[in-house]
Amino acid sequence: MSISKKEHWEKVFATKQENEVSWFQKYPKTSVNFFIENAIPKQTNIIDVGGGDSYLIDALLDLGYTNLTLLDISENAINKTKLRLGEKGKNVTFIVSDIVDFVTNKKFDVWHDRASFHFLTGENEIANYQKLITNSISKNGYLFIGTFSEDGPIKCSGLEIKQYSESAFENIFGVNFNKINCFTENHKTPFETSQNFIFCTYKKL
Ligand SMILES: C[S@@+](CC[C@H](N)C(=O)[O-])C[C@H]1O[C@@H](n2cnc3c(N)ncnc32)[C@H](O)[C@@H]1O
Repeated sequence: MSISKKEHWEKVFATKQENEVSWFQKYPKTSVNFFIENAIPKQTNIIDVGGGDSYLIDALLDLGYTNLTLLDISENAINKTKLRLGEKGKNVTFIVSDIVDFVTNKKFDVWHDRASFHFLTGENEIANYQKLITNSISKNGYLFIGTFSEDGPIKCSGLEIKQYSESAFENIFGVNFNKINCFTENHKTPFETSQNFIFCTYKKL
């Protein structure tokens, strides 16, 4: 019997060291560049969706960001981040939730998602994510999203993923958001392999 996606991710974060997973980055330079290039103010309400135990929250705290939320399906991942941040993370909001079940009345000014959206492979799940971000990002707020590109792997963490192109993103996000830019990038994994990502920045209408 196959295990649930929640069980999958809890096991990953319980059994693997941070540098034993393909997506590991000691410093999430591409994501940080988004904040710098768009001059995102320090009080901005930011959510990292499927952030896991990534170092993005650490990097943003170091840059002086004060209003940060980390959401992940895995409690183990969230606990790893909490433990690492210690006192430094006392004002971070942590949410353990499957993004598919996430309900909020909050509006975020920046929605960051690196390598989590691509795990939603069903049409309904993708449509629900589209609705969620449309309702949960403030007017003129940003979506910064990164997934495997059409030149990237077909699986991540042993799970099926959906690859994206600029036009495939545009079909989903182009209705309620203005595209600012898209680019592809090779991510070097800790195993010295390369994964091609596509990143896009959108601004909410
Ligand atoms: C490939 S990792 C990327 C982690 C992080 N964003 C990074 O760039 O290092 C995927 C992350 O998405 C989380 N995730 C997968 N499916 C999810 C879902 N349906 N809801 C919330 N988080 C999910 C996993 O637990 C994991 O932390």
